[in-house]
Amino acid sequence: MNSPSEFEQNEKIKTEIVGSAEEGARIVAREIAGLITNKNSQGESAVLGLATGSTPVPLYRELIRLHRKDGLCFDNVITFNLDEYYPISSNHQESYRRFMQEQLFDHIDIPPEHIYFPDGSIHREVVFDYCRQFEDAIEQAGGIDLQILGIGRTGHIGFNEPGSTRISRTRLITLDRVTRQDAARDFLGESHVPRHAITMGVGTIMEANRILLMAWGESKAEIIAKAVESPVSESVPASFLQEHTNVSFLVDDAAASRLTRIRYPWLVGPVEWHNDLNKRAICWLSSKLDKPILKLVDEEYSENGMATLITDQGPAYPLNIRIFNKLQHTITGWPGGKPRADDSHRPERSEPHPKHVVVLSPEPGNDMLAMGGTLERLENQGHIVEVVYMTSGSLGVPDSAAGKFAKTLVEAAQGLGSDWEAQVAYAKSIIEKIENKDQFGSDSTEIRQLKGLIRRAEAREACNECGIDHDHIHFLDLPFYELGRYRQFNLGEKDITEVEDILERFRPHQIYITGNRANPISVQALCFATFEKAFELVRRKASCHQTGNVWLGSKSPWHQACNVWLYNSDEHRCLPYEIDMAVPLSPLQFAQKEHAVSQHQSQCFQTEMKTKRDRETALLYDQLGLAEYEAIESFQRWSPS
Ligand code: GLP
Repeated sequence: MNSPSEFEQNEKIKTEIVGSAEEGARIVAREIAGLITNKNSQGESAVLGLATGSTPVPLYRELIRLHRKDGLCFDNVITFNLDEYYPISSNHQESYRRFMQEQLFDHIDIPPEHIYFPDGSIHREVVFDYCRQFEDAIEQAGGIDLQILGIGRTGHIGFNEPGSTRISRTRLITLDRVTRQDAARDFLGESHVPRHAITMGVGTIMEANRILLMAWGESKAEIIAKAVESPVSESVPASFLQEHTNVSFLVDDAAASRLTRIRYPWLVGPVEWHNDLNKRAICWLSSKLDKPILKLVDEEYSENGMATLITDQGPAYPLNIRIFNKLQHTITGWPGGKPRADDSHRPERSEPHPKHVVVLSPEPGNDMLAMGGTLERLENQGHIVEVVYMTSGSLGVPDSAAGKFAKTLVEAAQGLGSDWEAQVAYAKSIIEKIENKDQFGSDSTEIRQLKGLIRRAEAREACNECGIDHDHIHFLDLPFYELGRYRQFNLGEKDITEVEDILERFRPHQIYITGNRANPISVQALCFATFEKAFELVRRKASCHQTGNVWLGSKSPWHQACNVWLYNSDEHRCLPYEIDMAVPLSPLQFAQKEHAVSQHQSQCFQTEMKTKRDRETALLYDQLGLAEYEAIESFQRWSPS
């Protein structure tokens, strides 16, 4: 193992930052393949501890690829899965057992009798003995050679929630509120998420010879930093891994973003100060000392690891003013640019006016939640706004919402006489299909269509609240989503073509999109990847066209003139130093936005309270000494890499 660099000194677990989840998956898969081959040559079994969740999906895809293409054989592999919800039947759509079958076991040649899995359907009275037998089985297999882990937002590994002890063994546990909220989308509502789970204990996991923990996406950044850098504590069970002698974390850039070496590099080693870093460091100092930027003094810089900044670029006051002005200039009530105004310090250029604006929303509602106020501004300031819903969002609609809709249709139709027979028959068939469906079984095409229609209706209502006309609302229903399920989506050519067509059709001056730092197999991240590919294709085509079909790699005028703005997602909210455009909302505008968001009624189980983030952003700006607003919607500039 290489010794840690100066920047990694305060990391107590070896943490490798990889370019993407796919790259991380390849590294881990190679290690697994090496272990299997090695054990095979010694006539022994390779014993793997496996995890579920979206994190290991790219790894399982890579293992399947190695099996198919390189003939990696799983004959001598024994697996123990970490955990399972309780109670749950193994064929339940959300059971971990079913997940593993679909994601891995059904596609490789592992003998079924080599698969050990906590059974979520056993009787409560026998759980205790069952867990002991599970531990015995691990021991009889010779212990776990390599344990794969993801991490929950609470810092759990397996389902060892905060409070789990270092010596805990396989047992029945009660799930944490945050964990159940995180699973609410899969189970279509928090109330459907099982309250318990059976999990290997921290002690069980720590006995593995080698442990690899993976984490992708910004929602894991905070907990990764805690697990790696904070003292070992029961409140972050993953921090126990600091005491293991052969553990590595593999994280992508987004999940690494809160490690000190990435976020506050000046605290751990020499840095070259530049505008962005100055802004980040000064914002950090201001919030650390709870003092507005303009009141920071030289000594405070020096006493807080920023002496070289003050030496290079001080004294403090003009430096403070420079950064204050930069932040100040992000604030604008004119997200589409202010016509005929001096735009040298504005986030968006003033001309042309009006602009053609395309807002890409991965699922209906993402747009409204993050930028409902901005949408309304753009529309009112005369821009031509096209809202494009990339997926139908049907998977996010609870059966109860679809059933309610169908029942209303029956009632309305029956009250209005016999002309409605076809509608009654249709609505009744939906109700029947929902009632006969296994709890959380797959939706039939008809149910998905209806759920998609419900989201369309909600999206139209919400857009209506912002003054956007129905002719400017577009539904792409991208095939990757229509043909898939959460964690099982696969992007195809057609997805990209659809988005490419939209870009070609509108050739917008501004694009709004989200999902660039999300978990790579989430809907938002896949939609962003689709956009990125489509944008690149349009760019290439335009340039080829201009140069007689020779790709020169230069930007076409259309792209030079198009500003792409990233809006916040569930997983990512810009911090003040990351914000390039801050659109403040008055109390009335904020109330209107909340009303628009509330039109997404089928989503009320997961959207509640998220608008409060706009208020938090406003508070952060206020604390830095900027103006105090009711709420702020924030955006980051994006350009193709
Ligand atoms: C669940 C599982 C964990 C997993 C975690 C993170 O709680 N029990 O083993 O690591 O979810 O899930 P995801 O990878 O989907 O973020």
